[in-house]
Amino acid sequence: ENINPTIIVIFGGTGDLNSRKLGPALYNLYLEGFMPEKFELIGTARSNLTDANYCDFLEDGIKNFSRKGKALKKDWQKFTKHVSYTPADIKDPESLITLKNKIEKIQEEFGPDTQVIYYLAVAPKFFSAIADSLHKYGLAGDKDHTRIVIEKPFGHDLESAQELNQMLKQHFRERQIYRIDHYLGKEAVQNIMAFRFANSLFEPLWNRNYIEHVQISVSESIGVEDRGGYYDGAGALRDMIQNHLLQLLCIIAMEPPTSFDANEIRDRKVDALKSIRKFTNDSVRKNAVRGQYTDGWINGVEVPGYRSEKDVNPESNTETYAAIKFNIDNWRWQGVPFYLRTGKRMQQSSSIITIQFKDVPHQIFQNESVETWQQNRLIISIQPEMSIRLQVQAKRPGLKMVLNPVDMIFDYKGAKHTDTPEAYETLLLDVMTGDQTLFMRVDQVEYAWELLMPILNHWENKTSISFPNYTSGSWGPEEAEALIAKNGFFWYSLPIKHKD
Ligand code: BG6
Repeated sequence: ENINPTIIVIFGGTGDLNSRKLGPALYNLYLEGFMPEKFELIGTARSNLTDANYCDFLEDGIKNFSRKGKALKKDWQKFTKHVSYTPADIKDPESLITLKNKIEKIQEEFGPDTQVIYYLAVAPKFFSAIADSLHKYGLAGDKDHTRIVIEKPFGHDLESAQELNQMLKQHFRERQIYRIDHYLGKEAVQNIMAFRFANSLFEPLWNRNYIEHVQISVSESIGVEDRGGYYDGAGALRDMIQNHLLQLLCIIAMEPPTSFDANEIRDRKVDALKSIRKFTNDSVRKNAVRGQYTDGWINGVEVPGYRSEKDVNPESNTETYAAIKFNIDNWRWQGVPFYLRTGKRMQQSSSIITIQFKDVPHQIFQNESVETWQQNRLIISIQPEMSIRLQVQAKRPGLKMVLNPVDMIFDYKGAKHTDTPEAYETLLLDVMTGDQTLFMRVDQVEYAWELLMPILNHWENKTSISFPNYTSGSWGPEEAEALIAKNGFFWYSLPIKHKD
């Protein structure tokens, strides 16, 4: 691909995200020949590191977290020629001017088409100050060659998201702003678009006439790890549903776009968000369940309850689990519930989307022919298994007519794990090529917040919740089973694959 010479400046350059995700992603892109010939990666943070220190820091991250960590020796030295470090502190103008001079010097060397990408891999409280400083000290004056990448959480609620957007708008155009939702970069998530819109087979069925309900389930067996400080002020609804799960819902529910153009696709997603039925206090009570984990066992290891985690308030009422039933008021989806659930410390780590089709209109098989009857399901598994399964009834081979469900599976077997790019590789490449399709446009973010505000407000005001209410290693609180059972359904999970 023809990418202009590029300077990537990472704020929060010594942070976890840089070490685990950004460094490995950029190195992999380099190894696979996707980086432009002229590029410079500048790490920046407050600490005083040398270029060599910074390369060591990246090297550690790549060894530990990159799918290609083993390939390090080969081209590492060549890669490090493109890497440097400049300390910068937003409170210290001098340091920003030094950074600016450095960028300008590289620009001169690289030529007039050089693009500068500022990646804000920092805590959200620094977003505004950094964006302001970039403007104030003249680092972001060129609107055609400057981009800014922002990590979630994008606001804490509707109001703060709007404030942040207003602030960004003062210094950047929307086409310069790349709001990351890393779920959209996942291989199996991108494939849903291909599956839906590159085949004529499914579209005729993709509506209320054939689909009974949809489930989007993102369960994690990890707890809050060392992010208690952030998580305790956020909770599952803000951390996962507002962004990742609602984006998945949009990809399933959106109308077919007329082209693969970034704005066209994002328009269709916004349409889907706007069609979701608004919540009232009453419907929150009926359709939204929250949970918090207590201690328990995960894979034979005893784990503490949420309130005993590091940096978590011992009386915290923050939810670590949320399950919500959404209704979509449009022609395609009227009457088809979408159930979303996510939680930490659950029995399995797995992200799956299940589309359950309606039952046959008339049953011709007698009871003795049916060993197990199951309505058709399409299961899109995002991780850890990447697969699409179409579950159909079939005759078991033999002299009698005996029916059982079988899976028709597409499982990426051809692709070795090391060949599958990670979300951040896809997303960073898109930032460099200027493709915003997989990034959150301002209105997507704000509509998603607007939709969830009644739930957030209701939960905040209702203090009578008796937390904790689910055991680590379980599938979440009982109320979440009841939520879906009310309509005669139950949550699906894929059988755990044990290593041989
Ligand atoms: C992040 C959340 O956005 O996504 C984390 O802040 C969560 O709490 C993570 O663990 C899950 O991402 P993945 O890619 O591991 O499914």
